[in-house]
Amino acid sequence: MKKLFIVLLTLFTGMALLSGCKDKRTEEAVAKAAEQSAKLQEAHETEISDVTKQTATQLAKDTTQVAKEAVESVKVQAQETFSRAKETIQNVVVAQAPGDRGKELYKACAGCHGEQGQKHALGKSALLAGQSASALADKLKAYKAGKRNTAGMGTLMQTQLASLQKSDILALAEYISTFQTNKGNTQ
Ligand code: HEC
Repeated sequence: MKKLFIVLLTLFTGMALLSGCKDKRTEEAVAKAAEQSAKLQEAHETEISDVTKQTATQLAKDTTQVAKEAVESVKVQAQETFSRAKETIQNVVVAQAPGDRGKELYKACAGCHGEQGQKHALGKSALLAGQSASALADKLKAYKAGKRNTAGMGTLMQTQLASLQKSDILALAEYISTFQTNKGNTQ
């Protein structure tokens, strides 16, 4: 009886020890597995972050390229707008230049007064060549207002100036004042 008890006890202890060992081994195996999986995860993460980095770098490059292109196109557009604006300004300046405006308007007067103001209009008027811009402007304003009539033809001159603005009269006076007296004052 005592013997059997001892045998049983030994068996129990052995089993207990064995199972203990087993547990330890399992624990070790689990720990190893966990370690490995942690390593794997780490490696994976590194890989992921590498991919992320690459993607981010590529994205940044693409964005920079797109931004550069956008800046270029804005520059080109700005230049085009600028040159168009410059052209418009030049046109406006040219259109407003008194010389050209006066020259254009004087075409209606040249028939009677001569290309260079060298004619006595209808054989009656004084010569326009050699007169100052201010004198001419004063006379034209007076005709337009119906207040000048030196040879009985003031009304005719008033009609000539009826549709003209003050700025037109000044441009005309300016242009006529450039006529030289010595240019064929024959008539
Ligand atoms: C149909 C012919 C005719 C046309 C066109 C004409 N004129 Fe006259 N102009 C005259 C006559 C005639 C007189 C003299 C009027 C008077 O009796 O005072 C005169 C007078 C003048 C005078 C005054 C000259 C002076 O010193 O006494 C000026 C300046 C003048 N004209 C400028 C112009 C201008 C500028 C135009 C064009 C917008 C023009 N004329 C168109 C016939 C003309």
